Amino acid sequence: MAKKITKVRTDKTPVELLTRKQADAEHARLGQEIAGHDKRYYQLDAPSVSDAEYDELRKRYNAIEARFPDLKTLDSLSMKVGAAPARGFAKVRHAVPMLSLDNAFADEDVVDFVGRIRRFLRLAEDEPIAFSAEPKIDGLSMSLRYENGELVTAATRGDGQEGEDVTANIRTIKEVPQKLKGRNLPPVVEVRGEVYMTKADFLKLNERQKEAGAQIFANPRNSAAGSLRQKDPSITASRPLGFFAYAWGEISEMPADTQSGMIKWFEHCGFTTNPLTKMCRSVEELIAFHRKIGEQRSGLDYDIDGVVYKVDRIDWQGRLGFVSRTPRWAIAHKFPAEQATTTLIGIDIQVGRTGALTPVGKLEPVGVGGVIVQNVTLHNEDYIKGIGGDGEPLREGRDIRIGDTVIIQRAGDVIPQVVDVVLDKRPKSAKPYKFPTECPVCGSEAVREHDADTGRLDAVRRCTGGFICRAQAVEHLKLFASRRAFDIDGLGEKQIELFHEKGWLKEPADIFSLERKHRKELLEEEGYGETSVRNLFAAIDARREIALDRVIYALGIRHVGETTALSLARGYGSWQAFHDAALKVAKGDGEAIADMDALDQIGDTVIEAVTDYFKEKRNLAAVERLVKQVKVLDAEKPKTDSKVAGKTVVFTGSLEKFTRDEAKATAERLGAKVSGSVSKKTDYVVAGPGAGSKLAEAQKHGVTVLSEDEWLKLIS
Ligand code: IVH
Repeated sequence: MAKKITKVRTDKTPVELLTRKQADAEHARLGQEIAGHDKRYYQLDAPSVSDAEYDELRKRYNAIEARFPDLKTLDSLSMKVGAAPARGFAKVRHAVPMLSLDNAFADEDVVDFVGRIRRFLRLAEDEPIAFSAEPKIDGLSMSLRYENGELVTAATRGDGQEGEDVTANIRTIKEVPQKLKGRNLPPVVEVRGEVYMTKADFLKLNERQKEAGAQIFANPRNSAAGSLRQKDPSITASRPLGFFAYAWGEISEMPADTQSGMIKWFEHCGFTTNPLTKMCRSVEELIAFHRKIGEQRSGLDYDIDGVVYKVDRIDWQGRLGFVSRTPRWAIAHKFPAEQATTTLIGIDIQVGRTGALTPVGKLEPVGVGGVIVQNVTLHNEDYIKGIGGDGEPLREGRDIRIGDTVIIQRAGDVIPQVVDVVLDKRPKSAKPYKFPTECPVCGSEAVREHDADTGRLDAVRRCTGGFICRAQAVEHLKLFASRRAFDIDGLGEKQIELFHEKGWLKEPADIFSLERKHRKELLEEEGYGETSVRNLFAAIDARREIALDRVIYALGIRHVGETTALSLARGYGSWQAFHDAALKVAKGDGEAIADMDALDQIGDTVIEAVTDYFKEKRNLAAVERLVKQVKVLDAEKPKTDSKVAGKTVVFTGSLEKFTRDEAKATAERLGAKVSGSVSKKTDYVVAGPGAGSKLAEAQKHGVTVLSEDEWLKLIS
């Protein structure tokens, strides 16, 4: 297991003077140290060094790698799963500290808790105590400060005294009111509660992250935390987060005198509170609540890790007060961890839509929390090696081998995963797992790409087979026929799946011989008559002549979206020129690479992807077959005399005068670059009704904002 090093050690030898041996040793040590800091900062909420100290370590690490590039191997920190979000939010001191709760595990602990309260308040045995019983949401606690009804600050809990200012990000959450509803509001109100992500949204987000080769989150809590810790609020805005209000900090006048009254008041103010919250008046009722919620747990859309009981009367809460950092008037009654021990009997590699190779652990079936588990996610290569820093909760430094005895856990009731490997039980014959470097479906090379910006290796290994990989073929065909590529009417997702299943469509070129080879069979298919078949083939024929940028986009080269395709098309002008250049790039021809690099929108990432694609012989053959079927039209020369040529434009809000696709096409035809996000480099933001965060970003950067009419005037 990796040692935890909490102290920063700075080596004084300048990087230029390090011997190879020193560099190796220091690189390894720094890597461990930084990984430890990352973990404490991002996952444990407990950084042990200042941001400046951290940056210093990181700088030296990068400098060593820059001098000895071959250190960027599998063990390099650059290989860590995904990119870490930016560090350094402003600190906020909580007006009232944010404390934590004492835990109860057994029913007797609850009996003791109620007994303590009774004794402390000197209540008679028959004096009822009312409790608000609430689910304990497994998210991130947040303190929202409202002054005169307006949200002014949102802060994380941090160490309880001081948290991080995440106001800009919190403003993107719909369930957090910007303004409190109601009249006669206390001038200062701090509402506290939990930010969370639903299980369904967590799974969807991870799916997207996986496709993008980005950070995979271990559970909904981590993904909510990661989403909130974004430096760019538009990223947080794209992540579906919810908020339950359940407590308060500073309030200038109390609007209620019970916990339940406060919860009602939060609802009046416009907050969501948890619908399962219930009043309980005895130990029996509390325990029954715990049992009932425990039964509902796996069916809930969000993670909970227990229930919380709170004395309802706030005057009693005041009298009971706190013992060190936890209140005497509340307790968390936890649910038992859902874990089990079993054997890993194999590792399957699944190939996803973009060719991502995902390892799935095969288990000796075992019951965990009421379900039989046979598969376990192993995330990616680094996780199996035990170096996936974000591959929590596996213990750092533990690799996973077939034959291992593993402790598994159902993280947030959702995906089972490995928590630990029982090393004592590791069979002598168990060897470190060798992750395949060839696609198990098609045999093409499977590679890990470098992220050009961070220099890190993608967490995901991908099959470079493209169209020739069965697993990817269908999805690629869908892309190929889609509106922005070949735009073939009547060849939608369903039809592609059907035709692929029938064996009529294996690769794009097959689309153009469909009529000749399969017309008869198609007519026999249910739902196909003379007219629909004629229409389909007419739609296909209409695309036998096609613009170069559409062809390039339709090839399905990774990282080559429409904009990049357009740039390549404009840069090379003709299919022949593009094709020749791509082949040279794939062979590593320096001049060809430099030429491609010089094009707008193109950098290392695209060049690497083009290389992978055109290196693969089977891709080349499929491309040859395709271009025999179609006439690729030369690219339109961009207009350079328009007022917006060379400018960067962002469209936002719901546009009323034109569709977004239309706006984009027009802008690009006039030589402008259309971007999805606003930065200092943006020249114009064209805002329709309902424009939100991008508009705010534009104002921040002093970017010219145009209405739709003003834009039309500019380009007319
Ligand atoms: S009350 C003074 N109520 O649990 C205690 N906390 O271990 C105020 N939590 O940091 C917290 N659901 O993040 C309270 N219904 C609930 C909760 C809840 C989740 C979390 C919260 C807190 C932690 C305490």
